[in-house]
Amino acid sequence: MALVSSAQLGFILLVAAASLLEVSEAKTIVVGGLEGWRFGFNYTEWVLQNSPFYINDELVFKYDPPSKTNSGYSVYLLPNFGSYMTCDFSKAKILASETGGDGEGFKVELNQWRPYYFASGNEDGYNCKDGLMKFFAVPLPHPKY
Ligand SMILES: *[C@@H]1O[C@H](CO)[C@@H](O)[C@H](O)[C@H]1NC(C)=O
Repeated sequence: MALVSSAQLGFILLVAAASLLEVSEAKTIVVGGLEGWRFGFNYTEWVLQNSPFYINDELVFKYDPPSKTNSGYSVYLLPNFGSYMTCDFSKAKILASETGGDGEGFKVELNQWRPYYFASGNEDGYNCKDGLMKFFAVPLPHPKY
C-alpha cells in the first residue's frame, strides 16, 4: 500500500503551491499608515519600520487637497541620493499633484530593482526639508524558491 495516496499527494502539492503564491504576492502599502502623507511625520522612520519592500509592491500616497490648514502636498521622484539629501527638485519628476492623493490616493508600483527617492515638492522644498516628507526605498527581488 502506498504511504500517501495520489489524492493526498495532490492536496499536499496544492497547499504548497498556494503558500508560495501567498508569499510572492505583491503588497499594497499605504505610506505613513493611518497618518498618510502629511507635513511633520517622520517617513524615514516609517520606512525603516516597514521595510523591506519587494518588487511589484504598490505604495499608496493619501493626502488631502490644499485647504486652510495645509498649503498642499505632492509626490515627486527625485533623481538621486544627492538631490534627495538636499531636497533639490530641479531635476525631479512630478508623479502626483496637490489633488492626486485624494480619495483612494495616488498609487505607484515599485516595479524595478532600483532606489526610489520620493518627496513632496511643495513650498520650494519646505515640505521635504522641514516637513520630513521624503523617504527612499529599494524594493528587493522576491526570494527564489
Ligand atoms: C527621523 O527618523 C530617523 C530614523 O529613526 C532619525 O534618524 C531622524 O533623526 C528623525 N528625524 C527627526 C527630525 O526626528
